[in-house]
Amino acid sequence: MSDNSVHPHTHSPKTALVTGASRGIGRAIALELVRQGCAVAVNYRSQAAAAEQLVSQIQSAGGRALAVAADVSESSQVKAMIAQIEEGLGPVDILVNNAGVLYPGRLLDYQESEFDQMWRINVKGTVYCAEAVAPGMIERGWGRIVNLSSNAAIGTSMPGTTMYAAIKGAVLTLTKRFALELGPHGVTANAVLPGFTKTDMTLGAKDESARQAVYDKISGMSMLRRVGEPEDIAGVVGFLCSDAASFMTGQFLLADGGRMDYLAMT
Ligand SMILES: NC(=O)c1ccc[n+]([C@@H]2O[C@H](COP(=O)([O-])OP(=O)(O)OC[C@H]3O[C@@H](n4cnc5c(N)ncnc54)[C@H](OP(=O)(O)O)[C@@H]3O)[C@@H](O)[C@H]2O)c1
Repeated sequence: MSDNSVHPHTHSPKTALVTGASRGIGRAIALELVRQGCAVAVNYRSQAAAAEQLVSQIQSAGGRALAVAADVSESSQVKAMIAQIEEGLGPVDILVNNAGVLYPGRLLDYQESEFDQMWRINVKGTVYCAEAVAPGMIERGWGRIVNLSSNAAIGTSMPGTTMYAAIKGAVLTLTKRFALELGPHGVTANAVLPGFTKTDMTLGAKDESARQAVYDKISGMSMLRRVGEPEDIAGVVGFLCSDAASFMTGQFLLADGGRMDYLAMT
């Protein structure tokens, strides 16, 4: 495809679904996609007020958005959510599988129920959402899927997160397989691997001085000497959803400030 035009493109607006967009990284991704001109479905599981607040913020800035409740680990809820989005915003062109939970757990010390729940939300949720939107993307010959993995999947040495790292590894495998299956139909699938990012997941419950101690420790392990902000991750996801990334699929992009402790004991 050659295009020597210097005029801005006038694309038809796209509809995006961001799972787990009521707060944290998902919220920042939703705002980034709105900036790119997308109509955005803001999925949440329990925090309806936060999701509605984000939708109001987008709408008052002139954007299109819809809050949609669904537990992504329940396939029937995912199907109902997709129908609701199609009705309210149109078919889903861009899917960002961001909803996730983290429970600590290592080989000799983990809760089976927590391991199962992480698998159901982070892995099965990713499958259910992709499965629900892929047929429409194939039909239209265009689609973008971005999965949120973690630098834990490739070996950062944050102790005590063995089971979480394993499920995020599964997300990487799914990303390659989605790319392989959907590529011939014009659908790309890529993964973003955030490093430690300031959200409820990482330190919501801790007090300010305990938080600062963790930020300082993690910052010291990264080349940029800081931890991530949700916007640091959202920019990379936005890039993968944009036309700039049209020829990229099956790729894993790390956004972790340049961690130096892979597969090391620090
Ligand atoms: N923060 C980090 O340092 C970091 C690092 C690497 C990777 N990640 C990954 O990045 C993604 C976002 O993390 P975050 O830190 O932004 O998390 P967070 O602040 O804990 O927010 C999690 C979001 O996921 C939603 N959610 C949880 N379970 C859900 C379910 N079953 N169905 C639908 N939505 C659900 C929550 O909705 P409610 O508000 O309604 O509960 C919330 O919007 C996750 O996949 C995480 O594993 C994060």
